[in-house]
Amino acid sequence: MARRKIVAGNWKMNKTPSEAVALVEELKPLVASDDVDVVFCVPAIDIIPVAEAVKGTNIAVGAENMYFEEKGAYTGEISPAMLVDAGVKYVVLGHSERREYFAETNETVNKKVLKAFEHGITPIMCCGESLEQREQGVTMDFIRQQVKVGLQNVTAEQAKTMVIAYEPIWAIGTGKTATTEQAQEVCAGIRACIAEVYDDATAEAIRIQYGGSVNAATAPELFAQADIDGGLVGGAALKPDFGKIVNYK
Ligand code: 13P
Repeated sequence: MARRKIVAGNWKMNKTPSEAVALVEELKPLVASDDVDVVFCVPAIDIIPVAEAVKGTNIAVGAENMYFEEKGAYTGEISPAMLVDAGVKYVVLGHSERREYFAETNETVNKKVLKAFEHGITPIMCCGESLEQREQGVTMDFIRQQVKVGLQNVTAEQAKTMVIAYEPIWAIGTGKTATTEQAQEVCAGIRACIAEVYDDATAEAIRIQYGGSVNAATAPELFAQADIDGGLVGGAALKPDFGKIVNYK
């Protein structure tokens, strides 16, 4: 069975609550689609107003992070139950910006992935190499480690429902999209890694996105690749262009 495409916007640290609602109202008619899953991953403070604004549409709400404990003395953190209660269906975990600026590791990402599944939230687990790693020829070694450690103790049944986002760090926010061949090659490598860790059925089911300077011009070719099941979009998710990316065909 063909995998359903999933196009998610990662708003990062952009849009106040009132600006977020205005953006949703602007994008709503543009991202309507019967055959692509559409997700808006928004800052925590925007989740409640955005969840209200997308009611009755095809847009699902995602968070950009989540803590791995149930509750307690973790000042400033957001729990999975809080996200579920607010209407969140997806959560971005292990984004390279969180790894770089907030000391996330493969181990903490793994804890968060497990916790998200416990609460019925679909993880969008990010991986991706730096320019230095690409030049050293260790891209796939590095990504395989991120994926394998991130998926420790995740069952095949769970893995089948999740999303992995391949985002080469050198392509994020740089306007430098990976070539279609580079993106497809790594996404195929991630799928092969899933087949090794689990089995072919799990590898066939899991959805793998490409992220990194995706725009309306590059999306059609990227999303047409055999192992690319959609995109995780930063800058272009804040513009009407996002509608073109969702309706890339
Ligand atoms: P850009 O699309 O702005 O490069 O960001 C990609 C990204 O990091 C999405 O998570």
